[in-house]
Amino acid sequence: MRPTLILLHGFPQDHHVWDPNMDALGKVAQTIAPDLRGFGPATDIPGVLSMEAFAEDLKALIDERDLEKVVLCGLSMGGYVALAFLERWPEHVEGLILCNTRSTADTPEGKIAREATAVDALEKGSAVIARAMLPKVLSVHTRTERPEIARSVEHLMARQRPETIAAAARGMAQRPDRTQVLREVRVPVLIITGEHDELMPLATSEAMAKAAPGAQLVVLPQAAHLSNLEATTEFDRIVTTFVQHLPDA
Ligand code: MLT
Repeated sequence: MRPTLILLHGFPQDHHVWDPNMDALGKVAQTIAPDLRGFGPATDIPGVLSMEAFAEDLKALIDERDLEKVVLCGLSMGGYVALAFLERWPEHVEGLILCNTRSTADTPEGKIAREATAVDALEKGSAVIARAMLPKVLSVHTRTERPEIARSVEHLMARQRPETIAAAARGMAQRPDRTQVLREVRVPVLIITGEHDELMPLATSEAMAKAAPGAQLVVLPQAAHLSNLEATTEFDRIVTTFVQHLPDA
């Protein structure tokens, strides 16, 4: 049976971050890329958007579509959501792809930085956050050689609501360490990162690959934090191969 692949976007983006991957991945799986609560055109934003709340929304989506098992592919914050989901509903997961993410909680300094991001978003607006994040999410190579990607990513981040950015930053700060979830995982795991990802240094991906039994780690050259956009062809190829080799595929 054709697997279902759910693509979970990062912060502060929406499902459009997966636009370049949809055609290729759609050939191998029924591919769904939802907007996490508060992102995209949403209104009515709560004060905190927790990873657990996003995972509950994901469960509702899976129930609504009557899906028994899915492959979760989470990019950065989407990876936090995938792990929160796996912790609670492992029976619904037949494969896990973690991209440019980590299983650990924020450090105390990281939590302070989250609050600063939340306040900045609310006081200065999303465009300021987007401009500051751009050099952290795209490699120098991508920004200089493919400026159209830089423009579209900046625009994508700038159009998210300041209230959403603040609420998700505060939600990420609250997330616990979920490395144990990875240690206990019983389905195939693929970990993808970019060689220039400074937000999630290679050691964080290596630690996840070590924790998850049998996990495969792939490091994409010339990519930084948005490896699905910066190395689209390679990313799609790796995910396609992974999905095709799942036990029930
Ligand atoms: C993301 O891309 O989702 C963020 O960089 C995640 C984070 O800030 O921890």
